[in-house]
Amino acid sequence: MDTNRLSQTLAKALNQQMTNEAHNAQIYLAYASWASNGGYDGIANFLFRHANEERNHMMKILEYILKRGAKVVVSAIPAPGPDPVSINDCFEKVFKSEVENTTSIYDIVNMSMAEKDWATWNFMQWFVKEQTEEETLAMDLLSKIKVAGGANAKNDALFVLDSELGKTPDDAKLAQDATAANP
Ligand code: FEO
Repeated sequence: MDTNRLSQTLAKALNQQMTNEAHNAQIYLAYASWASNGGYDGIANFLFRHANEERNHMMKILEYILKRGAKVVVSAIPAPGPDPVSINDCFEKVFKSEVENTTSIYDIVNMSMAEKDWATWNFMQWFVKEQTEEETLAMDLLSKIKVAGGANAKNDALFVLDSELGKTPDDAKLAQDATAANP
């Protein structure tokens, strides 16, 4: 008996979205490492934590595909692309990748609606909300950098931003607080 409750179209789209989330995690990892190399440890920590969030998003979709009885296909993750050239560029790139992610989330919502797959539609609403929050976060950061001078932001202003971001609470635990016993 076939117990798969996902259409081929939606299974394919959800598997692709899993890879998209993994790709986003790689982007955050790359930018975090770039920021750390530049001495921006607060920004790096913020981005490292966000990489964990993206991986959690990937896992959330993976678990949903399995729960619906469909096949998970783990694919290669595209490279994150070139490093940012400045903190301003870094957050512009973050914003752009979040907006692209929102577009692919909306595509799946549209597909699930067209198929009247209300379970998937309902599942995707968590991501719709999450994307709103992530876009807002990236917009807020860009606004702060703009006030600090945008692409020409001075070191002292970036230092303040770096210190602030190092303390920001987030869904994922602070990387600096993680231990083997409490990962
Ligand atoms: Fe999983 Fe930032 O979107």
